[in-house]
This record gives sequence, structure tokens and C-alpha cells, in this order.
Amino acid sequence: MGLSYAGRAPRVDGMAAERVPVYHTGQNAGRSSGGTGTVSLPASVSIVEVGPRDGLQNLTQTLPTGEKIRYIRLLAASGLKSIEVTSFVSPKAVPQLADAAETVAGLRDLPITPIALVPNLKGARNAVAAGVPTLNFVFSVSASHNRSNVNRTREESLADLAGIVALAGEVPGVRVRASLATAFGCPFEGQPPIAEVLRWVGAAARLGIAEVTLADTVGFANPESVRRILAACRERFPDLTYGVHFHDTRGMGIANALTAMQCGVTVLDAAAGGLGGCPFAPGASGNIATEDLVFLCGEMGVKTGVDLARLFEASRFLQGALPGVCLPSRVLQAGLPKARGPIVG
Ligand code: COA
Ligand code: ZN
Repeated sequence: MGLSYAGRAPRVDGMAAERVPVYHTGQNAGRSSGGTGTVSLPASVSIVEVGPRDGLQNLTQTLPTGEKIRYIRLLAASGLKSIEVTSFVSPKAVPQLADAAETVAGLRDLPITPIALVPNLKGARNAVAAGVPTLNFVFSVSASHNRSNVNRTREESLADLAGIVALAGEVPGVRVRASLATAFGCPFEGQPPIAEVLRWVGAAARLGIAEVTLADTVGFANPESVRRILAACRERFPDLTYGVHFHDTRGMGIANALTAMQCGVTVLDAAAGGLGGCPFAPGASGNIATEDLVFLCGEMGVKTGVDLARLFEASRFLQGALPGVCLPSRVLQAGLPKARGPIVG
């Protein structure tokens, strides 16, 4: 057994592959890997921070409203501009977010676009009354998850979406986007046929939705399925803007995010600390961590506008407010890579 430590790597094919412990902050801002092939990445992406909604909805404890507001303020201070701050759903279904209107009221002065998840027309009305400008309507590709999550058929959800689009049309400044849960796999029905994904993306588009987020609710996706489904969606509906929402249930989350960016996606959901999970999807676990995504982007020269050190502050605040809860973000846990200095002698 040879020694293994940073700075000295095992010999591969008779060559010493020396590792250089350098942390570079995106100065290699080219979007091409050169050498054997070219990796194309967007110059910048927009991260939609879903921690205050997806991250908090699946906890056993409820964060007090004042602490939610403080947490969201810290997220905003890190440079995040699109933040899903809460959901307007039944307080019986998600008691952790029963204070949606109060949370929104505490954020009015922030320079962000607050987003709220809504499951039906009632939720949309409440969100608009609370002053939320962007509504994220959620429904599922699979009938079973739609029933489990919002107690509706997909057709009923579409009828709700039509009503929400009409409502938004009457209120200046309100826009609606749609998130399509279980687009890559469903805990009840497995992987949906691509035709089903296209069917529901198309149904949303026909109602006038311009931005659709494809969500991997319980970690079925892998880079190849991400590439395939995005390619099929873009071929059929080239005018839509696509976002992605990955849960890291099987460790594929960051690989999936990278693949989506390579496919040209520039809207990516992530949750600070890596919390998250749908309470109505058995086996759900955390979203990709915003820290990990920001780190990946920074290392690869993709601009996010997010200050990682400030983002750590937000997650550390949350950790302090939620003792006993594990924040799985790898970058938050490990910190930034740094050289500890050479071993002399
Ligand atoms: N916000 C608050 N209350 C709501 C509501 C909303 N968006 N929609 C319905 N309700 C209330 C109704 O007013 C009614 O109240 P009452 O019992 O006091 O009369 C009750 O909930 C039942 O209404 P109904 O329309 O029959 O709803 P439902 O029981 O079929 O539940 C949802 C449907 C969508 C409200 C519920 O399943 C839900 O909130 N799901 C949350 C999904 C979620 O957040 N998932 C995680 C994110 S993906
Ligand atoms: Zn989610």
C-alpha cells in the first residue's frame, strides 16, 4: 500500500500524475475544455433558490416566521435574485409553510423576485393577494404523484392552471411558470415515457406558459436521461424556456445539473444546504445544494452572481436555527479547497 495524500497521486500507466492543490475561482472562464473534446457551457445561469420552500416543507419541525424571513434575507444578501420563498398550499398538507402570507410580507423591501409555489387556483389567489409576482404552478407527469401531491387528476390540474393564467392576466406584473414533477421518474409509476412528458409540457405551453421546469422529484434522472428528455422537449417545443429541478437522492444531482447546462439550460433550481424533498413522494430527499452548484459554476467559469461566502452565512444561520438537522451540501461541509502547505522533508 502506498501513501496517498494531496499533492502526490498514485502512478498511472507508469506516469506520475501529479495533483496540484490549487483553488481557482473561475479564472479559467473559457467555456471549452480543449484537448480531446469541447464542453460547451452557458456564460451565466440563473439559480432559483428553493430552500425556503422545498427545503423547509419536509422538516419535522417548523421554522418560526421571523427566522424564515432572516434566512431569506441572508440568501438575498448572497446575490440570489430568484427565491422561492414559500408555497400557498393547504396548511393541513404542509403545516411548515402555513405562514406563507406573513413570510412574503416580511420581504417586501428585498431586491429579489419572490416566487411562490401554488397547487391550485385558491393558492394562486392567496399568493397574488399577498403580493407575490411569480407563481410556480406544480403538477406531475404521473397520475399517481399528482393524486398523492395535490389530490387531483392531471386534467383537473390543467383546468386549475388555465384559471391561474386567466387570473394572472388580470393582475399587472404577475407571471406564471410551471414545474412538472416526476418528469424523470415517479416513486409510484417509475420512469414516464417521453411522450407523456411531452404531452404535459405541451399542455402547459398551450395555456400560454413560457417557462417549464422539469423536476426529478425522487432522483431517477441520470445525465443521459436528462440529455434525452431535454432534447426531446426542445425539439418539440423550441420556444419554451426550460428550467431543471434535481433532487440528489442517488448522488446524480450535480452531474445532472452539469449535463443540463451543457444542453443549454440556464435556469436551475437548488436549495441552500441541500435540504428538500416532497412530503408526498416516498423516498424523497434533498435538492442539489446551492453551494455545490455555485461552486461547480465558479470552477467552470459560469457566472451565477452568487457570493459563496455569503451563502455559507445563510446556511450556517439555518443550521443554527435547526439544530439536529443535517445540511448535506458537500461544499458547505468541506469548505473551499485550500492548500495546507507542502510537507517538508
Ligand atoms: N391553500 C390553503 N388552503 C387550501 C388550498 C390552498 N392552496 N387549497 C385548498 N385549501 C383548503 C380548502 O379551502 C379546504 O379547506 P376546509 O377544509 O377548511 O374547507 C381544504 O383545503 C380542502 O380543499 P380541497 O380543494 O378539497 O383540497 P384537497 O383536500 O383536495 O387538497 C391541495 C388539495 C392541493 C390543497 C393539497 O393537496 C395541498 O395543499 N397539497 C400540497 C402539495 C405540496 O405542497 N407538495 C409539495 C411541493 S411539490
Ligand atoms: Zn423538489
